[in-house]
Amino acid sequence: MRFENVEFTYPGASHPTLNGISFEAHAGQTIGIVGAPGSGKSTLAHLIPRFYDVTAGRILIDGQDIRDVTLQSLRRSVAVVQQDTFLFTTTIENNIAYGDPWAKERKIERAAESAQLHNYIMGLPADYETVVGERGVSLSGGQRQRLSIARSLVLKPAVMVFDDSTAAIDAGTEHRIRSAIRRYAKDRVTLVIAHRLSSLMHADFILFLEDGRIVEQGSHAELLERGGKYRALYDLQTRPADDLEAAE
Ligand SMILES: Nc1ncnc2c1ncn2[C@@H]1O[C@H](COP(=O)(O)OP(=O)(O)O)[C@@H](O)[C@H]1O
Ligand SMILES: [Mg+2]
Repeated sequence: MRFENVEFTYPGASHPTLNGISFEAHAGQTIGIVGAPGSGKSTLAHLIPRFYDVTAGRILIDGQDIRDVTLQSLRRSVAVVQQDTFLFTTTIENNIAYGDPWAKERKIERAAESAQLHNYIMGLPADYETVVGERGVSLSGGQRQRLSIARSLVLKPAVMVFDDSTAAIDAGTEHRIRSAIRRYAKDRVTLVIAHRLSSLMHADFILFLEDGRIVEQGSHAELLERGGKYRALYDLQTRPADDLEAAE
C-alpha cells in the first residue's frame, strides 16, 4: 500500500485535514499512527476503504489506484476495526460472520480465538448460538471491540486498520490479540492507530501526525533516539505515577 502526496479536505471545509501524506507499506508490515486527537488519524484510515476520496495525490494497493477498482472489491480487501461496533440482534456466530455469511464454523472459531473472545463465548448459555445485541446478551465495550476484530479477521483482508480499537481492552489481552493476529498477518498490511504507545511500539514504522502532516517517522527505537515529539510522548506515558503527582 502506498500513499503518494495525499491531501484531503472535507466537503465544505476551508482547510485540508491531511496534507502531503506519503508512505509505503509492504505485505507483512505493521504501521503505527500516533498523534493528538484531531490530528487526522481516523481521516487517513477512512481514505483507504474510500469512505472519502483524496482531494489530491493518490493511494495505491498492489500498484493500483484504489479509485480504479470497484468499491465492492476494495471493501472486501480493506477492513477497518472501529472504536465502536454495531451488534445485530442475532447469534454471536452470525455477528462474527457478518461480512462473510458463508464462513465455515471453524473459520469463525479461529477468528474468535485470535480476538481472545472464544473462551468468553464458550461460557455463554448457548456458546456460539447465543443471541447477543439489543434484545439478547449485552456485551461490554471491550467484548464488542474483540467481536469487531473477529469480524474483520473472518474477511482475511489485504489491509487491516485498527482505529483505536483496543482502547477498551486491557493491555494484557491486547498483547495476546496482537500476537495471535501477527501469526497470520504475513500477507497483509496492518495499520494500528492507538493512544497507548505500547500498542504500536512493535510496528515496523510509526508515523507521527500533527495537524494532518507527518512530522516524524521511523521505528520506535529510531524515534526514541531522535528525541523529538514521539520521545516526549513516550516519556510522558512511561513516567511513574508518583512522578506525575509530584509535577502537579
Ligand atoms: N466528517 C467530518 N467533516 C468535517 N470535518 C471532520 C470530519 N471528521 C473529522 N473532521 C475534522 O478533521 C480533523 C481530523 O479528525 P480525525 O481524523 O477524526 O482526527 P483523529 O482521528 O486524529 O482524532 C479534525 O479537525 C476534525 O474536526
Ligand atoms: Mg480518531
